[in-house]
Amino acid sequence: MTELVRQHLIDPEICIRCNTCEETCPIDAISHDARNYVVNFEICNWCNDCIGPCPTGAIDNYRNVARDRAYSLAEQLTWDTLPAPVSAQETAAGETPAEVSRLTEIAQAGQGGPATPPWSAAHPYINLFSPQQPTFATVSGNHRITAHDAASDIRHIVLDFSSIAFPVLEGQSIGIIPPGTDESGRAHTMRLYSVASPRDGERPGYNNLSLTVKRVTEDHEGRPVRGLCSNYLCDLTKGDRVQVCGPYGTSFLMPNHPGSSLLMICTGTGSAPMRAMTERRRRRLARDEGGRLMLFFGARAAGELPYFGNLTKLPRELIDINLAFSRVPDQPKQYVQDKIRERHEDVFRMLKDENCYIYLCGLKGMERGVDEAFRDICRSHGEDWQTLLPQLKAHSRYHVETY
Ligand code: FAD
Ligand code: A2P
Repeated sequence: MTELVRQHLIDPEICIRCNTCEETCPIDAISHDARNYVVNFEICNWCNDCIGPCPTGAIDNYRNVARDRAYSLAEQLTWDTLPAPVSAQETAAGETPAEVSRLTEIAQAGQGGPATPPWSAAHPYINLFSPQQPTFATVSGNHRITAHDAASDIRHIVLDFSSIAFPVLEGQSIGIIPPGTDESGRAHTMRLYSVASPRDGERPGYNNLSLTVKRVTEDHEGRPVRGLCSNYLCDLTKGDRVQVCGPYGTSFLMPNHPGSSLLMICTGTGSAPMRAMTERRRRRLARDEGGRLMLFFGARAAGELPYFGNLTKLPRELIDINLAFSRVPDQPKQYVQDKIRERHEDVFRMLKDENCYIYLCGLKGMERGVDEAFRDICRSHGEDWQTLLPQLKAHSRYHVETY
């Protein structure tokens, strides 16, 4: 008898090759070559961990297949588009109608679905412009936001969309395609950058948005490299035109209901979405909608912290700021998780507050330390983090975007 199963597949037309799924998959079922990201049918157990973090939804695809005719990795690596769906009747040809119906039911059983945004988030637009049909934006500003003697060159870049509709929400990302081609003559793959401005733009009334881009000069292991897209962006000057795709991201979005709070934890350019959300709230401060903002922000030193000057000028009634510096001479090394522990009473209150939404963005390495800090804080308050975390996720209250 034919056994009909769901095969998890990635749509190569929508996939932006950001590697998020491969990094997220806990059992290494996802891999890639220079062309496609693919899911190994033999390994994938449909845990769905990869679905939420995928910024485009390309990962959220499947086909019903006969178990012994699942698409191989070699086949998937050649695809430019997903194969057309085959009906259960065709797949299970030769079975009785009752059997086909039963198989269809099994194959279409609920799989959990993608992570969802806060219930009061605005509806995001995604995939308005694909890598195949990008739009153009014009640079209307590019200035350094780390100190001039700082090791890291982080830039605040403003892109103007003129009369092109490019609606974004705080927490979404856009894709940038660096000009030129790779060694094999193919267009460079796009890179993702979080939007750093609120939905009404860097400057309200203008059709623009801003990005926070770090010039990559060394890889994650500290070896010297020249990051292609980040260097391209950091070197742009006013008037330059940039190829843009997106927007992307459907779950790392902010709540909009009065009384909702944000607990934001970031390092480096992970501050971009936090800036967008904070600025959204700052512009609406006069409405007095309640809810509090608490920020934990990690950097090597004050001069390395993007937007340091602006951050210190924010009204205290808007945001509770906690900075962790790791490389200040004669001071102990501090990470965001250390500051979180110091503020355990307030953090625990926010974790337990059903109107508080938690956001982590920045260095991948931070995830573990923050998780351990939350676990310890919960334990000291008689709560079990391993029980609380799935509840936070189920209520769309815990959002992570690390790269
Ligand atoms: P590449 O030429 O692609 O890589 C060069 C080398 O550097 C490679 O060895 C690579 O492994 C390593 N490398 C890649 N990225 C980094 C990094 N960040 N630090 C150190 N080494 C690196 N970047 C921002 O600056 N601002 C953002 O707001 C931002 N938002 C993002 C949001 C999402 C959802 C994701 C997935 C990524 C985001 N990034 C952001 C990272 C960005 O997409 C690029 O990966 C980054 O700019 C490096 O691209 P590149 O072309 O310069 O380097
Ligand atoms: P460190 O001094 O150990 O590199 P970067 O400047 O590389 O973007 O990093 C931003 C901040 O994040 C730095 O202070 C860095 O400290 C810190 N950091 C590095 N690893 C971790 C980690 N595992 N958890 C939390 N913070 C980290």
